[in-house]
Amino acid sequence: MKVNKAIFPVAGLGTRFLPATKAQPKEMLPVVDKPLIQYAVEEAYAAGIREMIFVTGRHKRPIEDHFDMTFELEIALEQAGKKELLEVVRSVKPDDMECIYVRQSQALGLGHAVLCGQRLIGNEPFAVLLADDLMVGTPPVLKQMVDQYSEWRASILAVQEVPAEHTRRYGIVAGTPVTDALMDVNRIVEKPAPEQAPSRLGVAGRYILTPGVFHEIANQPRGVGGEIQLTDGIAGLLRREKVFAYRYDGKRYDCGSKEGFLQANVELALAHPELGAEFRAYLKTLEL
Ligand code: G1P
Repeated sequence: MKVNKAIFPVAGLGTRFLPATKAQPKEMLPVVDKPLIQYAVEEAYAAGIREMIFVTGRHKRPIEDHFDMTFELEIALEQAGKKELLEVVRSVKPDDMECIYVRQSQALGLGHAVLCGQRLIGNEPFAVLLADDLMVGTPPVLKQMVDQYSEWRASILAVQEVPAEHTRRYGIVAGTPVTDALMDVNRIVEKPAPEQAPSRLGVAGRYILTPGVFHEIANQPRGVGGEIQLTDGIAGLLRREKVFAYRYDGKRYDCGSKEGFLQANVELALAHPELGAEFRAYLKTLEL
Protein backbone atom coordinates (compact mmCIF):
# COMPACT_ATOMS: atom_id res chain seq x y z
CA MET A 1 0.00 0.00 0.00
CA LYS A 2 1.23 3.48 -0.92
CA VAL A 3 2.02 6.11 1.71
CA ASN A 4 -0.56 8.79 0.96
CA LYS A 5 -1.14 10.48 4.33
CA ALA A 6 1.04 12.45 6.69
CA ILE A 7 0.57 13.69 10.23
CA PHE A 8 2.09 17.01 11.27
CA PRO A 9 1.96 17.43 15.06
CA VAL A 10 1.78 21.22 15.45
CA ALA A 11 0.11 21.71 18.81
CA GLY A 12 3.32 22.45 20.76
CA LEU A 13 3.71 25.74 22.61
CA GLY A 14 7.12 26.72 21.24
CA THR A 15 8.31 28.08 24.58
CA ARG A 16 11.94 27.97 23.43
CA PHE A 17 11.25 30.80 21.01
CA LEU A 18 9.44 33.18 23.33
CA PRO A 19 8.66 36.01 22.91
CA ALA A 20 8.54 35.36 19.12
CA THR A 21 5.99 32.60 19.68
CA LYS A 22 3.82 34.43 22.20
CA ALA A 23 1.03 35.03 19.68
CA GLN A 24 2.35 33.07 16.70
CA PRO A 25 2.83 29.33 16.17
CA LYS A 26 6.50 28.31 16.12
CA GLU A 27 5.77 26.37 12.92
CA MET A 28 5.10 29.72 11.21
CA LEU A 29 8.57 31.11 11.96
CA PRO A 30 10.19 31.72 8.59
CA VAL A 31 13.46 30.28 7.41
CA VAL A 32 14.49 32.86 4.79
CA ASP A 33 11.08 33.32 3.13
CA LYS A 34 8.99 30.27 4.01
CA PRO A 35 7.48 29.15 7.29
CA LEU A 36 8.91 25.99 8.82
CA ILE A 37 5.67 24.08 8.34
CA GLN A 38 5.70 24.74 4.60
CA TYR A 39 9.12 23.09 4.26
CA ALA A 40 7.74 19.96 5.92
CA VAL A 41 4.56 19.96 3.82
CA GLU A 42 6.56 20.41 0.61
CA GLU A 43 8.79 17.51 1.62
CA ALA A 44 5.74 15.28 2.14
CA TYR A 45 4.26 16.39 -1.17
CA ALA A 46 7.54 15.61 -2.95
CA ALA A 47 7.33 12.11 -1.43
CA GLY A 48 3.97 11.57 -3.16
CA ILE A 49 1.79 12.33 -0.13
CA ARG A 50 -1.41 14.24 -0.85
CA GLU A 51 -3.37 14.12 2.40
CA MET A 52 -1.88 16.38 5.08
CA ILE A 53 -3.26 15.97 8.59
CA PHE A 54 -2.35 18.73 11.03
CA VAL A 55 -2.78 17.98 14.71
CA THR A 56 -3.27 21.49 16.03
CA GLY A 57 -4.06 23.25 19.27
CA ARG A 58 -5.13 26.63 20.53
CA HIS A 59 -3.49 29.63 18.82
CA LYS A 60 -2.65 27.64 15.68
CA ARG A 61 -5.10 29.34 13.33
CA PRO A 62 -2.32 30.97 11.26
CA ILE A 63 -1.31 27.48 10.06
CA GLU A 64 -4.83 26.84 8.75
CA ASP A 65 -4.90 30.29 7.16
CA HIS A 66 -1.54 29.69 5.52
CA PHE A 67 -2.77 26.59 3.70
CA ASP A 68 -6.11 28.15 2.82
CA MET A 69 -6.93 30.31 -0.16
CA THR A 70 -6.14 34.01 0.44
CA PHE A 71 -8.84 35.41 -1.77
CA GLU A 72 -8.22 39.14 -1.35
CA LEU A 73 -4.47 38.73 -1.80
CA GLU A 74 -4.88 36.66 -4.94
CA ILE A 75 -7.29 39.17 -6.48
CA ALA A 76 -4.96 42.06 -5.62
CA LEU A 77 -1.93 40.30 -7.14
CA GLU A 78 -3.92 39.34 -10.21
CA GLN A 79 -5.14 42.90 -10.75
CA ALA A 80 -1.63 44.23 -10.31
CA GLY A 81 -0.37 41.73 -12.89
CA LYS A 82 2.07 40.21 -10.38
CA LYS A 83 2.01 36.76 -11.90
CA GLU A 84 5.09 35.36 -10.23
CA LEU A 85 3.95 36.32 -6.76
CA LEU A 86 0.50 34.95 -7.52
CA GLU A 87 2.16 31.67 -8.41
CA VAL A 88 4.14 31.73 -5.15
CA VAL A 89 0.93 32.25 -3.18
CA ARG A 90 -1.06 29.62 -5.05
CA SER A 91 1.64 26.97 -4.90
CA VAL A 92 1.45 26.86 -1.08
CA LYS A 93 -1.48 24.49 -1.51
CA PRO A 94 -1.53 22.64 -4.82
CA ASP A 95 -5.02 21.67 -6.03
CA ASP A 96 -4.43 17.97 -5.54
CA MET A 97 -3.37 18.40 -1.91
CA GLU A 98 -5.86 18.06 0.89
CA CYS A 99 -5.38 19.65 4.33
CA ILE A 100 -7.25 18.32 7.33
CA TYR A 101 -7.13 19.71 10.86
CA VAL A 102 -7.72 17.82 14.03
CA ARG A 103 -7.40 19.30 17.46
CA GLN A 104 -5.22 17.94 20.25
CA SER A 105 -7.02 19.50 23.18
CA GLN A 106 -4.45 18.53 25.78
CA ALA A 107 -0.67 18.55 25.37
CA LEU A 108 -0.10 14.95 26.41
CA GLY A 109 2.92 14.23 24.23
CA LEU A 110 3.98 13.35 20.69
CA GLY A 111 2.50 9.85 20.87
CA HIS A 112 -0.83 11.33 21.91
CA ALA A 113 -0.68 13.83 19.02
CA VAL A 114 -0.16 10.98 16.55
CA LEU A 115 -3.01 9.08 18.15
CA CYS A 116 -5.28 12.08 17.43
CA GLY A 117 -4.82 11.28 13.72
CA GLN A 118 -5.81 7.62 14.05
CA ARG A 119 -9.33 7.88 12.65
CA LEU A 120 -8.18 9.93 9.69
CA ILE A 121 -5.38 7.49 8.88
CA GLY A 122 -7.42 4.31 9.21
CA ASN A 123 -5.61 1.15 8.23
CA GLU A 124 -2.84 2.61 6.07
CA PRO A 125 0.86 3.28 6.43
CA PHE A 126 1.50 6.96 7.10
CA ALA A 127 4.27 9.49 7.62
CA VAL A 128 4.91 11.72 10.62
CA LEU A 129 6.88 14.92 10.08
CA LEU A 130 8.06 17.18 12.87
CA ALA A 131 8.35 20.63 11.34
CA ASP A 132 11.01 21.64 13.91
CA ASP A 133 13.39 19.41 12.04
CA LEU A 134 14.06 21.06 8.72
CA MET A 135 15.50 18.41 6.43
CA VAL A 136 17.41 19.18 3.26
CA GLY A 137 18.23 16.32 0.92
CA THR A 138 18.25 15.26 -2.72
CA PRO A 139 15.97 13.44 -3.16
CA PRO A 140 14.04 14.91 -0.22
CA VAL A 141 14.52 12.86 2.97
CA LEU A 142 10.91 11.63 3.21
CA LYS A 143 11.03 10.53 -0.44
CA GLN A 144 14.11 8.45 0.38
CA MET A 145 12.13 6.88 3.22
CA VAL A 146 9.06 6.19 1.08
CA ASP A 147 11.35 4.38 -1.36
CA GLN A 148 12.69 2.28 1.53
CA TYR A 149 9.13 1.58 2.64
CA SER A 150 8.21 0.39 -0.87
CA GLU A 151 11.06 -2.09 -0.69
CA TRP A 152 10.62 -3.36 2.89
CA ARG A 153 6.93 -2.79 3.62
CA ALA A 154 7.68 -1.96 7.25
CA SER A 155 8.03 1.10 9.47
CA ILE A 156 11.03 3.30 8.67
CA LEU A 157 12.59 5.78 11.13
CA ALA A 158 15.01 8.48 9.98
CA VAL A 159 18.21 8.35 12.04
CA GLN A 160 21.52 10.14 12.24
CA GLU A 161 24.58 9.83 14.43
CA VAL A 162 24.46 12.24 17.37
CA PRO A 163 27.19 13.24 19.85
CA ALA A 164 27.16 11.14 23.05
CA GLU A 165 26.31 14.21 25.12
CA HIS A 166 23.13 14.77 23.06
CA THR A 167 21.45 11.37 23.50
CA ARG A 168 19.07 13.00 26.01
CA ARG A 169 17.49 14.97 23.16
CA TYR A 170 16.46 12.02 20.97
CA GLY A 171 14.86 8.66 20.63
CA ILE A 172 17.91 6.36 20.37
CA VAL A 173 17.81 3.10 18.39
CA ALA A 174 19.94 -0.04 18.28
CA GLY A 175 19.75 -3.10 16.06
CA THR A 176 21.33 -5.21 13.34
CA PRO A 177 22.68 -3.71 10.10
CA VAL A 178 20.82 -4.81 6.95
CA THR A 179 22.52 -2.56 4.39
CA ASP A 180 24.90 0.40 4.76
CA ALA A 181 22.00 2.75 5.34
CA LEU A 182 19.46 0.45 6.98
CA MET A 183 19.24 -1.22 10.37
CA ASP A 184 16.74 -3.74 11.68
CA VAL A 185 15.78 -2.09 14.99
CA ASN A 186 15.58 -4.21 18.12
CA ARG A 187 15.57 -1.40 20.71
CA ILE A 188 14.41 2.16 20.90
CA VAL A 189 14.62 4.33 24.00
CA GLU A 190 13.35 7.88 24.47
CA LYS A 191 15.93 10.44 25.55
CA PRO A 192 18.35 8.18 27.48
CA ALA A 193 21.34 9.48 29.42
CA PRO A 194 24.59 8.82 27.52
CA GLU A 195 25.48 5.91 29.88
CA GLN A 196 22.14 4.26 29.18
CA ALA A 197 21.96 4.94 25.45
CA PRO A 198 22.07 1.70 23.41
CA SER A 199 23.88 3.52 20.57
CA ARG A 200 24.42 7.01 19.25
CA LEU A 201 21.86 6.75 16.48
CA GLY A 202 19.23 9.38 17.16
CA VAL A 203 15.80 9.56 15.54
CA ALA A 204 15.22 12.69 13.45
CA GLY A 205 11.70 14.02 13.05
CA ARG A 206 10.65 11.83 10.11
CA TYR A 207 8.82 8.53 10.46
CA ILE A 208 6.92 6.15 8.23
CA LEU A 209 4.75 3.99 10.42
CA THR A 210 2.36 1.12 9.96
CA PRO A 211 -1.10 1.58 11.52
CA GLY A 212 -0.28 -1.08 14.14
CA VAL A 213 1.54 1.67 16.03
CA PHE A 214 -1.75 3.26 17.18
CA HIS A 215 -2.68 0.28 19.30
CA GLU A 216 0.82 0.25 20.78
CA ILE A 217 0.78 3.97 21.63
CA ALA A 218 -2.60 3.59 23.28
CA ASN A 219 -1.33 0.73 25.41
CA GLN A 220 1.89 2.25 26.70
CA PRO A 221 2.11 3.82 30.15
CA ARG A 222 3.20 7.46 30.32
CA GLY A 223 6.86 7.76 29.42
CA VAL A 224 9.66 10.32 29.77
CA GLY A 225 8.41 13.64 31.17
CA GLY A 226 5.04 12.04 32.02
CA GLU A 227 4.11 12.19 28.32
CA ILE A 228 2.58 9.66 25.96
CA GLN A 229 5.65 9.07 23.81
CA LEU A 230 5.70 8.03 20.17
CA THR A 231 9.01 6.29 20.88
CA ASP A 232 7.34 4.00 23.43
CA GLY A 233 4.64 3.10 20.90
CA ILE A 234 7.35 2.21 18.39
CA ALA A 235 9.12 0.13 21.08
CA GLY A 236 5.86 -1.84 21.41
CA LEU A 237 5.49 -2.13 17.63
CA LEU A 238 8.90 -3.65 17.10
CA ARG A 239 7.98 -6.60 19.30
CA ARG A 240 5.34 -7.51 16.68
CA GLU A 241 6.61 -6.12 13.39
CA LYS A 242 9.86 -5.23 11.75
CA VAL A 243 10.93 -1.63 12.19
CA PHE A 244 13.90 -0.24 10.28
CA ALA A 245 16.14 2.73 11.02
CA TYR A 246 17.31 4.52 7.92
CA ARG A 247 20.37 6.77 7.81
CA TYR A 248 19.08 9.44 5.50
CA ASP A 249 21.23 11.21 2.98
CA GLY A 250 20.87 14.90 3.75
CA LYS A 251 21.16 17.51 6.44
CA ARG A 252 18.95 18.21 9.42
CA TYR A 253 18.57 21.60 11.02
CA ASP A 254 17.18 21.49 14.54
CA CYS A 255 14.90 24.50 14.23
CA GLY A 256 13.50 23.76 17.67
CA SER A 257 16.69 25.41 18.96
CA LYS A 258 17.80 28.98 18.28
CA GLU A 259 21.23 27.83 17.05
CA GLY A 260 19.77 25.35 14.55
CA PHE A 261 17.19 27.87 13.41
CA LEU A 262 19.88 30.49 12.75
CA GLN A 263 22.08 27.94 10.95
CA ALA A 264 19.16 27.00 8.71
CA ASN A 265 18.53 30.65 7.90
CA VAL A 266 22.17 31.32 7.02
CA GLU A 267 22.68 28.16 4.96
CA LEU A 268 19.38 28.32 3.12
CA ALA A 269 19.94 32.01 2.39
CA LEU A 270 23.35 31.13 0.92
CA ALA A 271 21.69 28.49 -1.26
CA HIS A 272 18.81 30.77 -2.28
CA PRO A 273 18.79 31.42 -6.05
CA GLU A 274 18.00 35.14 -5.69
CA LEU A 275 19.70 36.02 -2.42
CA GLY A 276 22.65 33.64 -2.26
CA ALA A 277 25.37 35.55 -4.09
CA GLU A 278 24.74 38.90 -2.41
CA PHE A 279 24.30 37.37 1.00
CA ARG A 280 27.60 35.50 0.66
CA ALA A 281 29.33 38.74 -0.29
CA TYR A 282 27.75 40.44 2.71
CA LEU A 283 28.86 37.71 5.13
CA LYS A 284 32.41 38.09 3.85
CA THR A 285 32.39 41.75 4.89
CA LEU A 286 31.73 40.79 8.50
CA GLU A 287 34.80 40.57 10.66
CA LEU A 288 34.20 37.20 12.28
C1 G1P B 1 10.87 14.13 19.48
C2 G1P B 1 10.88 12.62 19.76
C3 G1P B 1 12.32 12.10 19.74
C4 G1P B 1 12.99 12.46 18.43
C5 G1P B 1 12.93 13.99 18.22
C6 G1P B 1 13.46 14.37 16.84
O1 G1P B 1 11.44 14.79 20.59
O2 G1P B 1 10.25 12.36 21.00
O3 G1P B 1 12.31 10.70 19.91
O4 G1P B 1 14.32 12.00 18.42
O5 G1P B 1 11.58 14.45 18.31
O6 G1P B 1 13.51 15.76 16.70
P1 G1P B 1 11.26 16.39 20.84
O7 G1P B 1 12.31 17.04 19.99
O8 G1P B 1 9.88 16.72 20.41
O9 G1P B 1 11.51 16.58 22.30
